[in-house]
Amino acid sequence: MRKPLYHAAWMLCCLIGMMPACGGGPTLKQAYEKDFLIGAALNLDQIEGRDTRALALVEEHFNSITPENILKWEAVHPEPDRYHFEPADRFVALGEKNGMYLVGHTLVWQAQTPRWVFEDGSGKPADRVLLLERMRSHIRTVMGRYKGRIHAWDVVNEALDDDGSMRKSPWFNIIGEDYVRKAFEFAREADPDAELIYNDYNLWKPEKAAAVVRLIEGLRAAGVAVDGIGEQAHWGLDYPPLDDLESSLRAFASTGVKVMITEMDVSPLPNPWNYTGADIMFNVEIQKKLNPYPEALPDSMQQKLAARYGEFFALFHKYGGPVSRVTLWGVNDGQSWLNHWPMRGRTNYPLLFDRNYAPKPAFDAVIRAAR
Ligand code: XIL
Repeated sequence: MRKPLYHAAWMLCCLIGMMPACGGGPTLKQAYEKDFLIGAALNLDQIEGRDTRALALVEEHFNSITPENILKWEAVHPEPDRYHFEPADRFVALGEKNGMYLVGHTLVWQAQTPRWVFEDGSGKPADRVLLLERMRSHIRTVMGRYKGRIHAWDVVNEALDDDGSMRKSPWFNIIGEDYVRKAFEFAREADPDAELIYNDYNLWKPEKAAAVVRLIEGLRAAGVAVDGIGEQAHWGLDYPPLDDLESSLRAFASTGVKVMITEMDVSPLPNPWNYTGADIMFNVEIQKKLNPYPEALPDSMQQKLAARYGEFFALFHKYGGPVSRVTLWGVNDGQSWLNHWPMRGRTNYPLLFDRNYAPKPAFDAVIRAAR
């Protein structure tokens, strides 16, 4: 909750039009209109129109949307012969009504993918031929349905480990290293005009950044064009180091493909594990000391968070050519996945709008960074 004094001051500023997002300043998408698209990930309540306050913010501030879950394999293709397209149809209609740039997330990933995908009919591991056929028909069916309407796809998510080697996922184990190339080939076949993205976390780490560059160049040499590198950007107050981030942006820009910040949130909560990744399987036991601000984020922490957001956006602004989109992973703090991950039941504050849908100091810092 906003502190009463701060809230009163905010309301007053709104009334006299001094604050952005209250009619007095640019919206997020206006502030960055010369630089890049500003996106938000939407949950089901938003896509289905129940969360009208979030939708109002989305329409005001954002010109791109990504569905947080409903296009993942387990949601859109829960059984071998059953696809569930209704939520995705609504997502696309919502984006089209607002003339937004639509992102499909995600086609080939090891998580949120049903077990049957990697098995044959009798519960034994699928072989390469079967899994490739499944991958192709999933991509053709899902992308094909929204051909020309969903503008970009996270074709492959998280294929690399932090040291730059290939992640030993079921996709890798069953198909082999060329599963990434195959996924991009099938995606190009399904919608030749869509922008095709390789998406991952920790891409600012020098070894992983170098591995992505090798991956993109290797694919290009094999005749497969990737259009964008997606850096998830689930970050914290003390990572990533700005120097590493900048070097990685520079390296990605040098490949000639677009750079997209695809899932940004910045957690101000303690991270005692020195873990900077976003593997959804990483899980820690519930501990009170990891949830230090169950009621409100103290002002000093708000300021730290704001400063951090300001630094990141200043850097994106500097790379406004290659950086073509920055998407926040959620609309308001109460809706962020970081309230449940890596520990359930935390109260986190990683986004630009608070639980009352009001802009935070971090929002103002982001607007300032565009100047
Ligand atoms: C998260 C969603 O936000 C949660 O609602 C869900 O329970 C788990 O997945 N990297 C990704 C996203 O690529 O798909 C993940 O989204 C966050 C990490």
